[in-house]
Order: sequence, then C-alpha cells, then structure tokens
Amino acid sequence: MADGQNWIPQSVDVSVPSSARVYDYVLGGAHNFAVDRQMGDKIERNLPHVRSGARINRAFLARAVRFMVDQGVRQFLDIGSGIPTVANVHEVAQELDPECRVMYVDRDPVAVAHSELILAGNSHTAVLQADLRDPDSILNSGEVRRLLDFDEPIGLLLLFMLHWVPTEADPWGLMKHYREALPSGSYLAITHMADDHGNEAVHAATVMMNQAGGDQVVERGRDEIAAFFGDFELVEPGLVTFAEWRPSGPGDISADPGMNGIAYAGVARKP
Ligand SMILES: C[S@@+](CC[C@H](N)C(=O)[O-])C[C@H]1O[C@@H](n2cnc3c(N)ncnc32)[C@H](O)[C@@H]1O
Repeated sequence: MADGQNWIPQSVDVSVPSSARVYDYVLGGAHNFAVDRQMGDKIERNLPHVRSGARINRAFLARAVRFMVDQGVRQFLDIGSGIPTVANVHEVAQELDPECRVMYVDRDPVAVAHSELILAGNSHTAVLQADLRDPDSILNSGEVRRLLDFDEPIGLLLLFMLHWVPTEADPWGLMKHYREALPSGSYLAITHMADDHGNEAVHAATVMMNQAGGDQVVERGRDEIAAFFGDFELVEPGLVTFAEWRPSGPGDISADPGMNGIAYAGVARKP
C-alpha cells in the first residue's frame, strides 16, 4: 500500500524501519513504508528464505492457540501482537469456539491502528497500545480487565517478541511479573530468536536490522529462553525449535533446513 494512506498514525516515524512493519512486509502484508520494504528486501537478498521463517512462526502461533483451546483456555493475551495478518489469534481461537476472547497489545502505533480496524465489530476482542516493559500498564489496564477474567486460565502469547527486549530491561524479571499475574491452569507460549542456530545469514540479518537504528534484536541461548517460563511446566515436546513443536503439515516447516532452527518455541502451563 502506498505511503500517505489514512491508516498511518501521525506519531509514526517513517524514516526508521520498525520490527512490526518489516515483519508485515516479509509476511506479504500491506502496512509498511518504503524504509521497511527496503530493509525487508535487503534482508531477503542475504537470506532468501526469510519469508518462510516468518511464516513458520505464524504457523506455530496457530498450533499453540489450538492446543490451548483444546486444554480449555478461552481467553488470550497476545503481547507484541504485531500488524494483523493471516490467522490472527482471535481467528484461530474463535473458529474453535466463537466465545474466545482475545486482548491484543503492541507498542507500535501502526499495529494498533490496523488492529482497531480489523477488530471493529468483534466484541470479544480489543487492542491496547502499551509496552511490555511496563507490566502495570497492561495487567491493570481497564480494557484488559474488562475483557479478561484473571480468575480463569489465560493463554499468554509472546511470539517473536521477547528478543526485542534488551537484557538491560531485565526481561526475566518482567516475565516473572506476568507469570505471577496469571491464575493456575494458564498457559504461556514463547517463540524467540536463538543464538546457536549456526545460520550465519540469519546472524548477519539481525546485525543489519540493528544497524538501521530501529528496534534491536537480541538473539538468546536455549537456557536463557527456558528461564522465561520460570516454574511453569513445559508441555511436550518441551522447548524445541519452532518447526519441531508438534508440526502438523508441510506449512509448519521451511523448505530451507537452515531456517527451521532459528528460533526456540515452547508452551508451558502454570501449575
Ligand atoms: C515480529 S512482530 C511479531 C508479531 C506476532 N507476535 C507474531 O509472532 O507473528 C514483533 C512485535 O512486537 C512488538 N514489540 C516489540 N517490543 C515491544 C514492547 N516492548 N512492548 C510491546 N510490543 C513490542 C513490535 O511492535 C512488533 O509488532
């Protein structure tokens, strides 16, 4: 979509690529600017299978949400939800049970503006512009408390999200806060860029993205990522690469084996 359309919030800096918009472009979406497309194209020249990496992350999202609905979860909190694309959380969950409620949270104004458009008329969903690093602004927000019942299990999703949180912001301390706010029987799903995948083109792409001056990616090791789940119990097959987490068809795996291990994924239950 051409820049200058009415979905662009005034506060947006269109001169710096944003993680939400580059990801939207890579997934084939239309809510991105020239600077995001240039970054996406630059990454794709060096990493021809980048689109499949984004797609298999979305495929994991669908599997994790279906799994949680199967376990009885009927409400979801998706933080760092991004610009709505295909198979959003509410679409996957409400296909199984139309009563499922989904609260989307993102700090990116384009993601929030476009979510508002997509969600208009769906009373079981809402979107909040907030930053994960300020848990109170999310957990105690009126919108979140109106939509979600913190006495019933909640599915918390942090997909391709925590690797944007710098170590100085103590993402482990933040996650403890979120885990403690959830009732027993809740689930937590995480996907996170790995630092041990051995795919040099992926490491180079993250360096390129970071040098552009926008959101900064932090790749992390398996143990560091496992620590985000705290005392929650990982369901089978545990913390594995995102293509290894209960794949159910060819769309869950990249044609390039080098992409299948670039991120870890897990789903865990609060005892
Ligand atoms: C790569 S997208 C992932 C979208 C979606 N979760 C998925 O997995 O398909 C990352 C999203 O996280 C958002 N984000 C990054 N840091 C954030 C923060 N501190 N608080 C809230 N959202 C954040 C970005 O704006 C972006 O929309």
